[in-house]
Amino acid sequence: MNLLHLDSSPRAERSQSRKLTRDFVEAFALTHPGLTVTYRDAGHDLIPGVTEEWIAAAFTPEANRSKDQREVLRLSDTLVDELLAADTLVIGVPMYNFGIPAQLKAWIDQVVRAGRTFSSETMEGLANGKSAVLVVTAGGEYTDQSPSDFVVPYLRQVLAFIGITDVSVIRVGGHDQEAMIRTLESARRTMATLAAAA
Ligand SMILES: Cc1cc2nc3c(=O)[nH]c(=O)nc-3n(C[C@H](O)[C@H](O)[C@H](O)COP(=O)(O)O)c2cc1C
Repeated sequence: MNLLHLDSSPRAERSQSRKLTRDFVEAFALTHPGLTVTYRDAGHDLIPGVTEEWIAAAFTPEANRSKDQREVLRLSDTLVDELLAADTLVIGVPMYNFGIPAQLKAWIDQVVRAGRTFSSETMEGLANGKSAVLVVTAGGEYTDQSPSDFVVPYLRQVLAFIGITDVSVIRVGGHDQEAMIRTLESARRTMATLAAAA
């Protein structure tokens, strides 16, 4: 079994999402002997945004791509390969200004690829048979009913677009100590349940 562990916080030791994804992967590895973990640190090893050359290359059929175009897509191909090889994705997501951080958006723009993760003919997702766990940290407390949360609805939409609909969400956040402790305890319970599942 393969797990892709993706962090997107620019913070290091202070990052809550990093700590939680690390704990989750540790718990998951204990219940899944032989697990292969691929780590991608989009928060520190910055992924570039797409360019005009990238778009032209991505929409040129593979057999017709020039050497330069193949080079332009090299990182994207690696990121797509990592995604397609994974059975489970664990994504650490700090909420930034009600949405996802630019670091994570850059990863998404590189992996949502016509002909590789979605079909531009049928508009169906090609990255099927995977599950995703989103670890979302925020300064405030949000639920699936919060109209100002653009993190989870957006990630559910874009993951579904490429074929990933089995998505679990773990949220941690709150302005006061009580909310913080409560959401952390709930996160730990959900993480244990998810890690124990086959
Ligand atoms: C630039 C920036 C924007 C933020 N925007 C929000 C926000 O819109 N809503 C919120 O509840 N918290 C917001 N926060 C707080 C972070 O979501 C919170 O600190 C979270 O723990 C960050 O994840 P990390 O600990 O993994 O870095 C923001 C923080 C930063 C630095």
